[in-house]
Amino acid sequence: MTIKKLSTPQVPLNIFKLAVLVSGRGSNLQAIMDSIDREELDAHLSIVISNTKDAMALKRAEKHEIKTIFIDPSNYSSSKEYDKALVLKLKEFSIDLICLAGYMRILGEEIIQTFEKKIINIHPSLLPAFPGLNAQKQAINHGVKFSGCTVHFVDSGVDSGPIILQTVVPVYDNDDEKSLSKRILEQEHYLYPKAIKMIQENKIRLNGRTVTSKTI
Ligand code: GRF
Repeated sequence: MTIKKLSTPQVPLNIFKLAVLVSGRGSNLQAIMDSIDREELDAHLSIVISNTKDAMALKRAEKHEIKTIFIDPSNYSSSKEYDKALVLKLKEFSIDLICLAGYMRILGEEIIQTFEKKIINIHPSLLPAFPGLNAQKQAINHGVKFSGCTVHFVDSGVDSGPIILQTVVPVYDNDDEKSLSKRILEQEHYLYPKAIKMIQENKIRLNGRTVTSKTI
C-alpha cells in the first residue's frame, strides 16, 4: 500500500467526509474536487484510493493536495482480502460517503454491508438499461434514441442499486461510442456532485429501492 500525504489541512470536526475510489482518468473525481473548491459542495475529500498505480486520477488528486492511497491488488491473495484492507482504510478516515468514480473492481459483500447506503456510483447509461462495461457502446448498438447517466447506491449486483438521480441525453443518428460518451460525460460532471450534495444535505430518503428527494 502506497500512501502519499501531501499536506495536513485543518479539517473541521463535523464536516462530511468523502472517499473517492478510482482506477483511471478521474474526470468525475475532478468534478467533485472542483465543486468542493467552488464551495458548492460542503464536504471534505479525505482520501482518494486507487487499485491502479498510474491512474491519472491519482495525479489529479495530488495536484489538489488530496491524500491518495494506491492499494496494490497483487499484494492480496483474494478480492476478499483486498476489500478487507479497503474497509480498514475507509474506517480509519471515518468516511461518511464512498463515491466510486470509474472504479473497476467489483465490491464484495463485506464492504457493501459495512458501508450500507454509504456507497454510490455513477454509470454512463440510463439504468437499468445497459449495466456493466461499455454502456455507451451498448446504447449505440441497441439503437436507443436517448441515453444518459445515473447515480445510484451500490448493492451487491452490477449497477443494480437504488437510483438517486439521472440525466437524459439524446442519441443522434451520426453518433458513435466516442461522441455519445463525450455528451454523457459532460452531464456526469454536473450530476455526481449534485447527488453528493443532496446526500450531504440529508435530502434523500430511501424506501425499499425507491429514492425520494427534496429538490435543491
Ligand atoms: C465514467 O463514464 C463513469 O460513468 C464510469 O466510468 C467512467 C469514469 O470516468 N463509471 P472518469 O475516470 O471519472 O473520467
